[in-house]
Amino acid sequence: MAARAFDVKPLFAEPYFKTNIADAITPKQEKFIKNLKMLDNQVNKISVELYLFERPEMKSIKAAVQEALDTFAREVMGIDQTLAVTQSWSLMNPPGVGMHGHTHSNSLVSGSLYYTDLPDPPGNMIFERHNHYRQLEIAVNGEKQNIYNAPRNAVVPTKGDLVLFSSALQHYVEVNNSQMDRRSIAFNTFVRGKIGSFRDVSELEL
Ligand SMILES: [Fe+2]
Repeated sequence: MAARAFDVKPLFAEPYFKTNIADAITPKQEKFIKNLKMLDNQVNKISVELYLFERPEMKSIKAAVQEALDTFAREVMGIDQTLAVTQSWSLMNPPGVGMHGHTHSNSLVSGSLYYTDLPDPPGNMIFERHNHYRQLEIAVNGEKQNIYNAPRNAVVPTKGDLVLFSSALQHYVEVNNSQMDRRSIAFNTFVRGKIGSFRDVSELEL
């Protein structure tokens, strides 16, 4: 018997946004970021500076990131309000080190910026479909994996890439399987402007 025809269509989708801002990053800025004082952060290293984009040395990078956030808000989220960077910091994974799964609290959209040369392999960023306890886990047949059922998806970074994603998405970084340090910048954002409706008494000015 011939199989009946059927349709599978997306109801909703989870986006991530990628652009390249290598043109906004100077060798002097790369050096400045690499020379920031770092602290131990569980297994990797994090900068002492946690408001990195506020530093005058970061001006052109901050402007390029804001331009991308404005595009994301307008074209992807379809909102009139602004996404403003809150905290921003640099990260370093030495050889043999990755980053455990986490989400970003008190943030709407988060970002990663690969501001300098990456190792080979670059250490992918892995996004997970689920970010909480699952009583029932039914493995998906590998050959049948697709956008509707995949438990996780990888983003492969290249130099200059800026990746934006929902702060609620669970993500981790693969172990650095090279002999070179893996460096990046991360940041959080929050919405600025007026949301809700005055007459519905849901108005909130941020
Ligand atoms: Fe993160």
